Order: sequence, then C-alpha cells, then structure tokens
Amino acid sequence: MRDRLIELLADGSVQSGQSLGRRLGISRAAVWKHIQALEALGLDVHAVRGRGYRLAEPFEPLQQARVLAGLEARVRERLQALEIFLQLDSTSDYLKREATPLPEGRVRVCLAEWQSAGRGRRGRRWVSPYGSNLYLSLAATVSESHLAAGGLSLVSAVAVAEALRARGLEGVGLKWPNDIYHQGRKLAGILLDLAGESGGPYRVVIGVGINLKLSQCAARAIDQPWTDLSRSGVRLSRCELAADVINSLVEALRRFDAHGLPDFLNAWNQLDLVTGRAVELRHEQEPMITGIARGIDPRGGLLIEHDGKTRSYHAGEVSLRLS
Ligand code: BTN
Repeated sequence: MRDRLIELLADGSVQSGQSLGRRLGISRAAVWKHIQALEALGLDVHAVRGRGYRLAEPFEPLQQARVLAGLEARVRERLQALEIFLQLDSTSDYLKREATPLPEGRVRVCLAEWQSAGRGRRGRRWVSPYGSNLYLSLAATVSESHLAAGGLSLVSAVAVAEALRARGLEGVGLKWPNDIYHQGRKLAGILLDLAGESGGPYRVVIGVGINLKLSQCAARAIDQPWTDLSRSGVRLSRCELAADVINSLVEALRRFDAHGLPDFLNAWNQLDLVTGRAVELRHEQEPMITGIARGIDPRGGLLIEHDGKTRSYHAGEVSLRLS
C-alpha cells in the first residue's frame, strides 16, 4: 500500500486525500495514517492546506522492472533473485540471514529504500534516510582459495568506483581498503560480510552504500567528511545506478574468480588516493602505525614505510595526514 502511495506522489504534484483514497481503495483517514508513516521514515511530505499532499521533491522509487531493464544479459543470467524492500534493518543482514543455498556463479541482490540499522565498517552506523540514497547488497558464493588470496574488498570498491566514473563522475578516488571518495569527502562505502563453514564455499555479502542526496539533518549523525552525488552536479537515476553497480560487481567477481587481484591493480593504482601520502593506521587495541603509504601488496594489504622499512597491514582504518 505504501509503495503505491509513494508511486502516486512521486512526481511531486499535489494530490488530494480523496483522490489518493479512491485510487488506493482506502478512506481519507487511512491515507493520512499512511502519510504519517512515510514521514516517520524520513520522507518529506507536505500537507497543502485545502488541497492535499505533495512530496517536497519529486522522488524516484526503486522499481524492480527498471533495475532489471538496466542489467546486462549475462548478468541477468547469473541473477538468482533481485528483491526491493521499502524498509529493512540492513540489506546485508537480510542476505546474511537468508539460508537458501546459492549455487556457485549465481548472485542474489537486495535493495531497500530505508534501513533502520544500516551498518558501516568497524561497527559504525550507516546513515540510511528514506528514498534518497542507494543501499544495495549482493550475495555470491566464493571459494576458500579465492578468499584466502585476498583483495575482494578492494576489488568491490574498484567496481563501484568504475560504475560511478562510467556515469560521468570525475575525480572519484579510493581510500584503502574500500572507501569511495569524491573531492576529499566520502561518497560511498563498502562492507564485506562472510558466512560459511571452514573449508567453504563461503557466502560473501558485499554491501554498498552510495550517498545520492543527504539532507544536512540526516548527515548530522555522520562523523567524517561526507558528500553526495547531488553536490557533484551529476544527476543519476537510482534504478539505473543500481543496475550499473550490479553489472559492475558481477563482472568484477567473475574477473576476480578467473585472475585474482592482479587483474585490478592498474585500476586500483589509478583510483588510489593514499599512495605517497603520510598516513596513520589505527588498529583495534594496538598502537597507531604512522608512515608513508607505498601502495598495496599482492593480497591487498596496505604497504606503509616507516623508518626506512616497508611492512604490509591487512586490517585497520587509515586516516590521511596532509604531508
Ligand atoms: C562503510 O563504513 O564505509 C561501509 C558502508 C556500507 C553501507 C552499506 S548500505 C547497504 C549495506 N547494508 C548495510 O547495512 N551496510 C551496507
């Protein structure tokens, strides 16, 4: 019902409660209740005195048919399921909970308009207001040997950055291991979750959050410099961007399976924002590591030079110091 209501309001025009009720087959009072529920999710609905309701801004709902239409034929062949929810706790948690086996080579994708418990890396919350950004997770089966080879999280970031670049976003860059930056601010993030028994195969869930339009109010909860696509001047359809990201991730998984991380090194180096910069690497309960970033090792670890020695690090959070 709420999906239908949003569709009727999506173009931003004023709709009377009576006509909304008639088209939805519910009373005006019921329309009002649904409008209140949408407002509680963070959708900006204005009541126009004596005339009805309208969205503060036109809104493009996520629609399965439109996302499917943007998928390449070979990607559609690999798609086990594409689900779109109005609200979820977290698209990644949803796919982690789903126990149905996923045959090798197939992917399962889930998107949500709103996440009540969107997760970022290192236990952070991912701010997920209603209907303005992209919250997408993709589950795939990967062999233990490929996982052990390392680098999947970097590869996922390259795939998302390339999808954005292909849509005309210039100056997109990556901060190890998988933060996507634009003009010095975080635009998108990737979260990798693993599930499976030792010996594999493993189910990997790649969670992608891209800021398309964040209000100042929603962004108050973000504790790092952030940006969104609306500030870059690039206007994108959310459904098309979702399809691009799925196409790019599926192709990256295929290449990663076939050739591993080395196949992505050129692309990584082009997008890398960290190499040559003074960095601080924070690691849970360990002293901070400082030095100069010297690229990545063959397993995707960050190389840091300190006191004339270069060592690689596989976990932690990098912050850049201007040198
Ligand atoms: C980061 O901290 O940079 C990673 C952010 C990942 C956010 C996405 S949104 C879709 C998916 N569902 C989640 O709960 N998190 C990821």
